[in-house]
Amino acid sequence: QGKRESLYVLNKWAGRYFAEQLMGTDQGRSIGLSYFYERGYREETIRKFELGYSPENWTALVDSAKKEGHSTDFLLETGLAIEREDGSLYDRFRGRVIFPIHNLTGRVIGFGARTLKTDKKVPKYVNSPESDIYHKSNVLYGIHLAKRAIVDRDSCYLVEGYADVISCHQAGVENVVASSGTSLTTGQIKLISRFTRNVVILYDGDEAGIKASIRGTDMLLEEGMNVKVLLFPDGNDPDSYIQQHGSSSFRAYLDKNEEDFVFYKTRVLLGEAGPDPIKRSEVIREVVKSISLIPDEIKVSVYIQQCSGLLQIEERVLLTELNKMRLERA
Ligand code: CTP
Ligand code: MN
Ligand code: MN
Ligand code: MN
Ligand code: MN
Repeated sequence: QGKRESLYVLNKWAGRYFAEQLMGTDQGRSIGLSYFYERGYREETIRKFELGYSPENWTALVDSAKKEGHSTDFLLETGLAIEREDGSLYDRFRGRVIFPIHNLTGRVIGFGARTLKTDKKVPKYVNSPESDIYHKSNVLYGIHLAKRAIVDRDSCYLVEGYADVISCHQAGVENVVASSGTSLTTGQIKLISRFTRNVVILYDGDEAGIKASIRGTDMLLEEGMNVKVLLFPDGNDPDSYIQQHGSSSFRAYLDKNEEDFVFYKTRVLLGEAGPDPIKRSEVIREVVKSISLIPDEIKVSVYIQQCSGLLQIEERVLLTELNKMRLERA
């Protein structure tokens, strides 16, 4: 189709433009490239992910794009440019490092752009808006570079952010994609399920990450996925853990600490509940609720057994509760 193809062409051009700004200009090298080096990214990694830089300038990209003959309509539709009241255009991304976002086949469909400032008032990331080729809820950052490894390992690590994906690759873990901050969607899960049924959630070890991991678990279970979870200590995310402890410690940590969702959820919720019996019974209900979402009856019965041992509750009681929940949903 003509329009979508034009959007792909423009995004491809823009990706190259940002990369050239990063590698080929003084401002890009001294600000953008040195930022990536400080984060520990190697040059080959920067090229692999086609990272870039947008200069601190209101119209740098718009000017170049017009010189190249790109149309105003497509600059607006891709969100690379924004329109002023008077009809003139300015660049969406300014003075930021650029993470191109690719589809399954490796075409650029949008961009994430990180500020270099530590000022809490500016948004950390600015992202492309939705367009005919960029539907956020169906996108997983890094999927084009991960799909082969996901199939080979028959497993997919799910992280929150761009930086996590990139650092994982540098640490030798390539079967990894990011949900990019948004809460996990069914579209994203269906994309993963084309390559594997096994997902390990590696969200940030903070309040938000814990919440998102619990919610993500239920969504994944509903889609018939096998779910494991591992959160990093002290608010770390995979990227910061790798920076602090190195690649081999990271890989060892993954192998040693991933937990089946039933143990993870029980442990986290029981920890929050403390000794209060009412709260503990609420936890049991929560765990049974997750199990009740699993479409496979054999798995359900195995999990009920596990759970019975773990929580010291008779299987029969758990099954009654599970059936009640299914009836309520039906
Ligand atoms: N995100 C976003 N907009 C924001 C904040 C976050 O789109 N204002 C998305 C980005 O995809 C980001 C992910 O959510 O990568 C996770 O957010 P966060 O953990 O805050 O950022 P990090 O990826 O850890 O970023 P960094 O390590 O660069 O600080
Ligand atoms: Mn559409
Ligand atoms: Mn976070
Ligand atoms: Mn993070
Ligand atoms: Mn981070």
